[in-house]
Amino acid sequence: MADNDFARHRWHSLLGVVPVGLFLIVHLTVNYQATDGPGAFNQAASFMESLPFLLFLEVILIYLPILFHGIYGIFIAFTATSNVGRFGFFRNWMYLLQRISGLFLVIFIAWHVWETRIAMALGTALSYDMMANIFSNSWMVVFYIAGVLAAVFHFSNGLWSFCVHWGILATPRAQKIGTYATAVIFVLLGYVGISAVFAFI
Ligand code: HEM
Repeated sequence: MADNDFARHRWHSLLGVVPVGLFLIVHLTVNYQATDGPGAFNQAASFMESLPFLLFLEVILIYLPILFHGIYGIFIAFTATSNVGRFGFFRNWMYLLQRISGLFLVIFIAWHVWETRIAMALGTALSYDMMANIFSNSWMVVFYIAGVLAAVFHFSNGLWSFCVHWGILATPRAQKIGTYATAVIFVLLGYVGISAVFAFI
């Protein structure tokens, strides 16, 4: 791998966790407030809206990192060879699912940003009702459940490969423990994300 490729891969990996992965956790946690009713969600959402330099923070901490990770991710997804020989059968499946979930997320995130953030920029008010309105269509409920599960899987499984790439999970034993730990993260975050979807229905 050329030096430039190596550096790009490292940036892709790092940005997937900080800030994009951290943003995913904050985003799902804010949405989860809807399980306490519309008032609780509206309060949490307007707190986020009131942060100073909001657009600047969004561009630096969310849009640019996710654009780089997403665009370079599409390139990797179509060019990378699998890990056969280096890891076992299970890990090869996880690696394939990592790429498939990433590609699905391109579609899901584009749609989600269009009907929420861009709709808001064009005048729709951010509120519980905005999401409840989207979920009045059952197909959207299915699409969002798939999107949340894809994002949570991609992040949890990605955290495992991030830890391997950065030398945090170096031995086979550490990697096995990492598999269980990231599976727990998948279940917890999945619960938070899916509960939030149902709270808007
Ligand atoms: C919710 C948004 C996303 C989050 C939180 C996220 C997070 C991550 C993390 C933590 C990794 C592991 C990095 C590593 O292996 O060192 C990763 C890998 C990857 N991501 Fe994402 N990602 C997101 C969206 C996307 C999108 C939209 C794509 C577009 C295809 C994508 C494609 C990939 C690919 C192909 C890999 C595997 C890279 C490799 O192993 O060489 N991701 N992602």
